[in-house]
Amino acid sequence: MSAQNKATLSFTDGTPSVEFPIYPGSVGPDVVDIRKLYGQTGKFTFDPGFLSTAACESKITYIDGDKGELLYRGYPIEQIAEKCDYLDTCYLLLNGDLPDAQQSKDFSYLVMRHTMVHEQMTRFYQGFRRDAHPMAVLVGCVGALSAFYHDSLDINNPEHRMISSIRLVAKMPTMVAMAYKYSIGQPFMYPKNDLSYTANFMRMMFGNPCEEYVPNPVLVKALDRILLLHADHEQNASTSTVRLAGSSGANPFACIAAGIATLWGPAHGGANEACLVMLNDIQKQGGVAKIGEFISQVKDKNSGAKLMGFGHRVYKNYDPRAKLMRETCYEVLGELGLENDPLFALAMKLEQIALEDDYFVQRKLYPNVDFYSGIVQRALGIPTEMFTCIFALARTVGWIAQWGEMISEPDQKIGRPRQLYTGAARRNFK
Ligand code: ACO
Repeated sequence: MSAQNKATLSFTDGTPSVEFPIYPGSVGPDVVDIRKLYGQTGKFTFDPGFLSTAACESKITYIDGDKGELLYRGYPIEQIAEKCDYLDTCYLLLNGDLPDAQQSKDFSYLVMRHTMVHEQMTRFYQGFRRDAHPMAVLVGCVGALSAFYHDSLDINNPEHRMISSIRLVAKMPTMVAMAYKYSIGQPFMYPKNDLSYTANFMRMMFGNPCEEYVPNPVLVKALDRILLLHADHEQNASTSTVRLAGSSGANPFACIAAGIATLWGPAHGGANEACLVMLNDIQKQGGVAKIGEFISQVKDKNSGAKLMGFGHRVYKNYDPRAKLMRETCYEVLGELGLENDPLFALAMKLEQIALEDDYFVQRKLYPNVDFYSGIVQRALGIPTEMFTCIFALARTVGWIAQWGEMISEPDQKIGRPRQLYTGAARRNFK
């Protein structure tokens, strides 16, 4: 990073002013490098929620929230969604460039030969109550993977890092499907490696040992699109958690478990589950006729209600993934003969009303990807409580790519935010 410009910070309390270098990104906002602020002034910056803080340098994903643009390694998400499948997207995120035909084949072969989990893993699943939330199971079981791969846990060895990355991408579908099968009391399905990554996942989810499962290509494509649209999203809460956990030198499986835990929250990955719950509630209370009442409730700060699937910390425009997901929604509902699905009709009406309402317009609240992904997943037969697990499966590659990028930085430091302390000053015990 080289500074072309400088920023001067002056103080009214007598502290001498200080100069900081400004670094430009290849696209997007410049950053003011304040790393020497404390050393030079004895002051910290205060930015809870990281509203103005770039916590790292990254070359993986770029979002222009005002334009509604998402780039993976420079490629617009619309082009990736049209031309690539999920595994090519994984290759791109992990390696920095798209694979050629041979690399694509080799990568797919490599991933698909690591899909099985150690047989002992089944015991971890069996330790959970059947009614455990599958995300609780996933946090625990992915963390438990740390105990199985002592051969590749040297995080300073690039080869070990790549082996762990491949293992995680390869095993997540198996782990997620096992969480589902356990919850419904069906036998775990072993992976079938001659299927595509996504078709194999669908078979492990919906197949059973008693009959042949024939994947529907339209539905496989839809789920594959869900996966690639969620593959990475810059420095969001779960990715930042993975980086922070990883900055201490923790192993990649433990870091991804931390990411999964963060993703679980309704303001993040839990939003598509919360969105479908919201649509179902409105539907139960009277459907389209009740939208007006619901919107008034959302606008009333005291109600605590939010229009789930709307709003985003970074996108102040239509989330580009939401447009693609909307398209997929039409394809899937058409394929399944569910064009008149009442929840979909309700979602369309809700979207239309919200997009015209001053409250949402002024605050630049647009639909995010979760607004439609829940409807698609429901149509695919995925139960609501599994939605966030699917998100975790998709995001694993982004998390591990970001983790790998951080670990390979030569001057990587443990993440250690500071605070504005407003508690009691030193006092004596009486
Ligand atoms: N419904 C109603 N009002 C909203 C919503 C919403 N979904 N989102 C934001 N607002 C309002 C806020 O109340 C606030 O109003 P105010 O200025 O009058 O106080 C204003 O819009 C700005 O909102 P913030 O909360 O400051 O925005 P922030 O960037 O912190 O939050 C978030 C973003 C968490 C995503 C928020 O929009 C939200 O909770 N949305 C619903 C949950 C959701 O869909 N999450 C998915 C995110 S995408 C993902 O993880 C894949």
